[in-house]
Formats: sequence, structure tokens, C-alpha cells
Amino acid sequence: MPVSVCVFDAYGTLFDVAAAAREVAAEPGREAFAACWTQVARDWRLKQLQYTWLRAIADAHADFWQVTQDGLDWALENAGLAGDPDLRERLLSLYWELAAYPEVPQMLARLKADGFRTAILSNGSPEMLDAAVRSAGVTEFLDDVLSVEAVGVYKPHRRVYELVGNRFGTRPDEVLFVSSNGWDAAGAAGFGFVTAWVNRAGEPMDRLPWQPAHVIDDLSTIPQLAART
Ligand code: LAC
Repeated sequence: MPVSVCVFDAYGTLFDVAAAAREVAAEPGREAFAACWTQVARDWRLKQLQYTWLRAIADAHADFWQVTQDGLDWALENAGLAGDPDLRERLLSLYWELAAYPEVPQMLARLKADGFRTAILSNGSPEMLDAAVRSAGVTEFLDDVLSVEAVGVYKPHRRVYELVGNRFGTRPDEVLFVSSNGWDAAGAAGFGFVTAWVNRAGEPMDRLPWQPAHVIDDLSTIPQLAART
């Protein structure tokens, strides 16, 4: 079947998760944070994701806002910055208005003009996703925003990927699923989606039982990929 729906992961794929830490590091009076912000950003993201996987395995779901705060608290303590509540609040507040990657609005507009249906499928809570989509100005290019909160478990559980077919009435092979997270692209490929991994950082392929059909450098080629798949 040709692809009729393009579905995007949110954090790291459409929205730049390092943007909050990068912006705060450039603010006056943040010298201690500026010296270690890349490590904090890496730890924050890694712990946030680890907590999603562990909570899914342990059947102990809490929403993405909770694990985002928990991941940041670990990262700040690891950097010796746990005693700076103002820094914590500033980083968390920016998570609600992360910058989209520059090619995102034009890419989504092209997909809509070409007749594809488009959606986000994300670990994010509905409130977080609503804020991010509105702050990036891409609401009009998305048919829906699907959150794992509808099923109470995180990716790569198949109940999450099933949300797409339930919403659009599609078979998995009619869906182009796009993620910058190698493990998410792999999980989605295992589910049966046609999958594109956005490998901006040139990372190695994840050693998992499934591999994405396509590996791309950024999102600009998605409309061509969707049209020829
Ligand atoms: C998401 C995480 C995986 O948006 O980044 O689902």
C-alpha cells in the first residue's frame, strides 16, 4: 500500500530537546551551568528516556512531565547544581516552548499540500504537546496529536503504535513513521510501519531486532520520501 499518513515523534525529532539547556547557558549569571550544560542536557535526556522504559517494564506509569522533572533532577545533582531551584524552574519552563528544527514548518506544509494526513505520536503528555505545537506555530499542519497517555504506557510498547491505526483507519504499511530516536524508529519498524530514522548526529545504528527502512540527515526530504513510498 502507498503511504497515506506521515507520523512524527515529537521530542528530538520535531522539537530540539537541547534548546532549553542551550538557551539557559547563554543567559547572564549562569556561568556554573554554562560550564557543564552539554553534559546536563545529555544526562537529562538519557535519564528521562530510561525512566520511560523502566516505568513501562515495571507497569508503573507516570506522565512525561513527571519523568522529565525526575530526569532533570538527576542531571542537576550529577553536575553539583541541585541547590539552584531557579535554574531548575527556568529549564523546566523552557521545555514547554522548545524550538522546532528550522525545516519543520515548510516540510509539514508540503506534506499537507500533497494530500498526506499528518500527526505526532509522542511520549509527551497532551498538555506538553499542545504547548510545544502551538509555540512552534505548526498546529495548522497537523491532523492530530496522539499522546501515550491514551494507553498509559511508553514507546516502544505496541499499544502506542496501535494508536495510529485506531485514529486513521490505516494498516501499518500505509504509515511513514519518522523519529530521531534510533530505538523508536526500530520499535516502529518492528510494529510494521515504514520507518525513517533522522540521524542528525551521525550515530551508529541501534543493535535491535528491527531496522528503519530509511536513514536521513534531517526532515527536509520527508515529502519526497512519502511520495515515492
Ligand atoms: C517522544 C520522545 C521519544 O516524543 O522523544 O515520544
